Amino acid sequence: MSTPIVSAQDLRIQFPTQDRTETVKAVDGVNFSIQPGETFGVIGESGSGKSTLGRAVVCLLKPTSGQVLHGDVDPYSLSSAALRRQRRDFQIIFQDPNAALNPRMSIVESVREPLDIIGDKPRAERQRLALEMLDLVGLNADFGRRYPHELSGGQKQRVNIARVLTLRPRLVVCDEVVAALDVSIRADVLNLFADLQRRFGLTYLFITHDIGVVAHVSSRIAVMYLGRFMEMGPSETITRRPLHPYSEALLSAEPVPLPSAMRTGKRIVLQGEIPSPTNPPSGCRFRTRCPVARDVCAADEPVWREIAPGHHIACHFPGALGGAAGH
Ligand SMILES: Nc1ncnc2c1ncn2[C@@H]1O[C@H](COP(=O)(O)OP(=O)(O)OP(=O)(O)O)[C@@H](O)[C@H]1O
Ligand code: SF4
Ligand SMILES: [Mg+2]
Repeated sequence: MSTPIVSAQDLRIQFPTQDRTETVKAVDGVNFSIQPGETFGVIGESGSGKSTLGRAVVCLLKPTSGQVLHGDVDPYSLSSAALRRQRRDFQIIFQDPNAALNPRMSIVESVREPLDIIGDKPRAERQRLALEMLDLVGLNADFGRRYPHELSGGQKQRVNIARVLTLRPRLVVCDEVVAALDVSIRADVLNLFADLQRRFGLTYLFITHDIGVVAHVSSRIAVMYLGRFMEMGPSETITRRPLHPYSEALLSAEPVPLPSAMRTGKRIVLQGEIPSPTNPPSGCRFRTRCPVARDVCAADEPVWREIAPGHHIACHFPGALGGAAGH
């Protein structure tokens, strides 16, 4: 295997609560690596720490402990100028198509802006590159003259993709990038991501709470709960034969055509809310909602282990719920 583009080792990110009396453990000991050219999906309920993880990968957030490596480099060991350069290779696109667009800038100006800031190419060249990138995302020069309010959400998200790709990044974190879009155009935008990946040899970290989306685009999937990964493996394995009770529950809630939902035919409704990340449950942090929890789950934290080649899990009783749901 080649050197990963990104890896995380026991990554932890904490925030003080608003009254500063407690600590939010948003990411609480995560390990993974992403290979060049792959799409790594992260799924989990709201508040599980997905966006925090994505922001750490692109150095928008500094780890509280553990580390994120870019290749074999710790970006925080670099000088500030070298870190700025490094960040160009690791970009992020957010859910809100308006987030990165200045309403007073024309579309082509917005796409050109990252190149303007770097300023190492003549203006005419920057303009040419911006128009070329707009064309690649399916927007002709006419769109370049327009302003954000004249575009649909899907078109604006295409502009955001073009803007990020002018920098020719190596990895792009896609944080719920189709969640705000009309269902009818989501597939088009996802297909565009796939086309651009082939063309530019991009690597994606694809964050979503929509299993349908992540199954569609990812080669591997990690299932995140309360700051930790519960299960991680090939997309096919996680969607067809998940072994962690949390993965099973998430997948069972998905309408067909996901195969695992068809297999069990039963929807597993998780009881209760996701506990507070300031004070996660002892032992297995999923135990307060796990339908198959036993005493040992409260006493001992399950170890993150490789249960089959490339398939990792943290559970004392992998597959226990699969049996229960199947009958
Ligand atoms: N800057 C911050 N300050 C304090 N707490 C934060 C901050 N950012 C995130 N959190 C908390 O960290 C936890 C994880 O948040 P995060 O946004 O990473 O979750 P998420 O999985 O992306 O959720 P969603 O699906 O709703 O986007 C939440 O409890 C959140 O309130
Ligand atoms: S360790 Fe126990 S509580 Fe946690 S997911 Fe597995 S069976 Fe459920
Ligand atoms: Mg988020």
